[in-house]
Amino acid sequence: MLLDLTRDDRTWQDVYKLCVTFVVPRPIALVSTVSADGVRNLAPFSFYNMVSANPPVVMFCPGTPSKGGKKDTLRNVEATGEFVVATVTHSIADPMNQASASLPPEVDEFEYSGFTPRPALHVRPALVAESPVNVECRLDRIVSFGDLPGAGNVVFGRIIAIHVGDAVLAEDGLCDPLKLDAIARLGRLTYARSTDVFDLPRPR
Ligand SMILES: Cc1cc2nc3c(=O)[nH]c(=O)nc-3n(C[C@H](O)[C@H](O)[C@H](O)COP(=O)(O)O)c2cc1C
Repeated sequence: MLLDLTRDDRTWQDVYKLCVTFVVPRPIALVSTVSADGVRNLAPFSFYNMVSANPPVVMFCPGTPSKGGKKDTLRNVEATGEFVVATVTHSIADPMNQASASLPPEVDEFEYSGFTPRPALHVRPALVAESPVNVECRLDRIVSFGDLPGAGNVVFGRIIAIHVGDAVLAEDGLCDPLKLDAIARLGRLTYARSTDVFDLPRPR
């Protein structure tokens, strides 16, 4: 199959649906923010990764909704400059999915999805108590790919604190993928777990 986007007038939704079945597995950021009025918000984003080691920077990407406007997470980050990213593990897949519901900005999405907020060290958005890893971030910049429906708004955040539960640590002080049991998206409604692993020594 060849999809030539310079000739084919496929919709952006068709292209998106195909691409998210091969840009896989995508880790999931469960992003905690607060609105300017202090309402807690929580939503999952699988357009997520670490993109700089020094300084340590993560990015996630709220798309522009089909009806236009901005997702609450993006609006909150713009208003406050702060967010927390919690790692999504297999045991919290269901409440994570609940947190993806489209809800009005005045709804506390911790309460709605059944997650427990825990105070962060440096930022106002709460940590997710049920997640073994929470990363506190300060907004660095936002890069927007326009304002059409589906346009990406890439949020870059500098990591300022990392909370890791002892239960997911290996003896070397790093996360053990088998203990972490993080989940990732594979397109459609399919997910993967970080428990199917193999090692590959690096070439000299
Ligand atoms: C596993 C998963 C991953 C998602 N990834 C994204 C994403 O990368 N970008 C995005 O815009 N929406 C993504 N969504 C949808 C958002 O979570 C959803 O639109 C949510 O309502 C946004 O919340 P907010 O308006 O409170 O920010 C994802 C949903 C799920 C279940």
